[in-house]
Amino acid sequence: MGALCCRQQPIDFDGEVNLFHFNLLRCVGKGAFGKVRVVQHKQTKDLYALKYINKARCVKQKAVPNIIQERRLLEEVRRRPKKLPLAIDHPFIVNLRYAFQDDENCFFVLDLMLGGDLRFHLERLGNLSEESVQLYTAELSSALSYLHEKRIIHRDIKPDNILLDEQGHAHLTDFNIAVHYSERRMLTGVAGSMAYMAPEILVKKGYLNTIDWWSLGICMYELIFGKRPYRGRTNGDLTHSIIKDNLRFPDDAEMKCSKRGIHFLSCLLERDVTKRLGCKPDGEGLRDIREHPWLSSLDWDKLESKQLQAPFIPDSKRANFDASHELEELLLEDNPLKAQHRKKDVSTMSPEMRQMEEQFTPYNFKQMRRRSYYPNNQIVSTMTVTSSSGLGYSRPTTPLTPLGESSPLPNHFEMREKELQQQGREAESYDMRPSNAF
Ligand SMILES: Nc1ncnc2c1ncn2[C@@H]1O[C@H](COP(=O)(O)OP(=O)(O)O)[C@@H](O)[C@H]1O
Ligand SMILES: [Mg+2]
Repeated sequence: MGALCCRQQPIDFDGEVNLFHFNLLRCVGKGAFGKVRVVQHKQTKDLYALKYINKARCVKQKAVPNIIQERRLLEEVRRRPKKLPLAIDHPFIVNLRYAFQDDENCFFVLDLMLGGDLRFHLERLGNLSEESVQLYTAELSSALSYLHEKRIIHRDIKPDNILLDEQGHAHLTDFNIAVHYSERRMLTGVAGSMAYMAPEILVKKGYLNTIDWWSLGICMYELIFGKRPYRGRTNGDLTHSIIKDNLRFPDDAEMKCSKRGIHFLSCLLERDVTKRLGCKPDGEGLRDIREHPWLSSLDWDKLESKQLQAPFIPDSKRANFDASHELEELLLEDNPLKAQHRKKDVSTMSPEMRQMEEQFTPYNFKQMRRRSYYPNNQIVSTMTVTSSSGLGYSRPTTPLTPLGESSPLPNHFEMREKELQQQGREAESYDMRPSNAF
């Protein structure tokens, strides 16, 4: 009797990209939906970050439109900007390399940022130096105005979504709740992580890209001082604080930040959007930022070609990731990720599964092939979600937000607040942030 052959099938690297093309390495992150792990392309040996989202969970959490939107926007931000003929990618955005799906998951293969995210560093160091934050502010301002030029609002700027490369440069990631906007129609969806939300979102009278500059202000304030300017025990208190409280700086603020830096932060955290720094249209906002005395001495050409030396270089000898992600995967994951051949029949799929199948299209940065997608791009559903946690996982998560602005908006925060009150917990824990962050 012949022995069963257990040799693996050869991998077709010329065919459409799939999980068989990668070696799966350690887990480095987890967000509201996605798990992120390091992978190595088996042919090129290049390392990437693989963000994967379980499709069944995604349907259950009514997050299908968000995942498809994230996939679409990531391809879009990669498109060569006219003004920068030599640049293919934006230097301060985590770029998409491949996208594909199998029966269980949707996959994004992204540039790997080995320096870790800013939440990781903030939790370990308590706060960061003004010089580091100055550089991040300039880099992220460049990324944000690039996105706004493409009429995309990120809507979720917070330390968790800012990743450092090995040289310590900041990159924006996580386009899960990003949307397109047009000056002709204000957005009204309550979106983002509450502590970073601009007042114009919370008062629900409509907003545009100005919200990203506010969130950048909150984020940079938090990085410098180790706490955020607006706080509250309940979501109601937090909303009230964001809308009404005077902007205050800690008593020892001038030990941590120059007067110019404090002035810059105050200009980002301006409630009046017509006066807020960065918000003027047609590139004037970025010009104001570049000309502000806090950042005007930076060489912006060098900055955009990543030639400025970052004051904080992540330690390359240690992993800049929370070890609990890997541990959680090893101990608690009962369905570990593995490459699988496709079996499912589209004709028997639920409408949401089918939507994902058809609209989460494959992408390969080497081929730069653009498919025409979205023939019937309708939002299947809009609802909120909160993430589960494991092993004392302490990151804030981003509640999902409606991408279809025309649909009636569920009030995520009131819903979540009620839930928290029933559990006798404070609203801040909605963010699952450790108390030492305040
Ligand atoms: N390209 C990457 N390189 C390294 N780590 C990453 C990368 N992308 C994400 N991560 C890590 O995974 C976490 C979750 O990823 P994110 O895209 O923010 O997912 P979610 O939409 O679920 O919040 C991030 O906070 C970060 O720590
Ligand atoms: Mg995230």
